[in-house]
Amino acid sequence: MKHLLKLGDLSSQEILDILNLADQLKYEQKHGIKHHLLEGKTLGMIFQKASTRTRVSFEVGIYQLGGIGLFLSPRDLQIGRGEPVEDTARVLSRYLDAIMIRTFAQQEVEDLAKYGTIPIINGLTDYAHPCQVLADLMTIREKMGGLKGLKLCFVGDGNNMANSLIVGGIKCGMEVSVACPSAYQPDPDIMAWAAAQGSFTCTENIPEAAAGADVLYTDVWASMGQEDEAAARRQAFQSYQINDSVMSAAKPGAMVLHCLPAHKGEEITSKVFEEHAHEIMEEAENRLHAQKAVMVKLMQ
Ligand code: CP
Ligand code: NVA
Repeated sequence: MKHLLKLGDLSSQEILDILNLADQLKYEQKHGIKHHLLEGKTLGMIFQKASTRTRVSFEVGIYQLGGIGLFLSPRDLQIGRGEPVEDTARVLSRYLDAIMIRTFAQQEVEDLAKYGTIPIINGLTDYAHPCQVLADLMTIREKMGGLKGLKLCFVGDGNNMANSLIVGGIKCGMEVSVACPSAYQPDPDIMAWAAAQGSFTCTENIPEAAAGADVLYTDVWASMGQEDEAAARRQAFQSYQINDSVMSAAKPGAMVLHCLPAHKGEEITSKVFEEHAHEIMEEAENRLHAQKAVMVKLMQ
């Protein structure tokens, strides 16, 4: 594994190896066992969009590994004034040991990897959020004891989260169902790949998608960069909410996960969110451990 651009690039074994290392690093951190596996290494962190979890967990993560993170906003970088990505990639490759980037187009992340000579980590694009899904799989495995054969149901927008959950879930042997309006389905290449795997359904029928689910997952109706569409999306997604009725279709004791930030009262009720807050906050914590595992795999 040279980069983490999207989960589709990783084998099932590579994903499991990251999860295993993340579990180990979490155990070590909880028991005060130092793991300076990236002593003296520098991670550049480019953020073209806002972030709480990704920014803080990467910065804390690289510090705990003995390295340092540089927060780079487009306001400060020449990339924000139009310096080409191929030049930025070649220059930053001469200073840094890896780059984590959060941006809009997946192509920008792919281009950094193409022109640079250091590992590139996708910290969210409009297309994918692989770091989040590694933490999600880690959280599910922790609670359920495994992943194979479990049913994961995503309710909401067929966006970056849905795309990455479909790929990550299926690669780990899960059955994945998505409930979304037909105009907001996951990306066509993800739909085609998932359909060929045979353990995937996409429907507008929420109870059908949620039936027998072990894990229910949702995300905001309007993602970063879609603020102008918020009113239209509120309309289109009004029934795509995780609430008591959706919970009653799932398996008793089903987990509820959310990448956060959450818009309670929209994609999830406050009641369901609070009943599952312990899982959702563990999921947020696991961003730290999963990302440390990704950095060790790529930067050591
Ligand atoms: N889930 C997630 O990526 O959160 P942030 O946008 O706060 O980084
Ligand atoms: N779909 C959301 C995820 C945020 C972590 C967004 O792209 O804004």
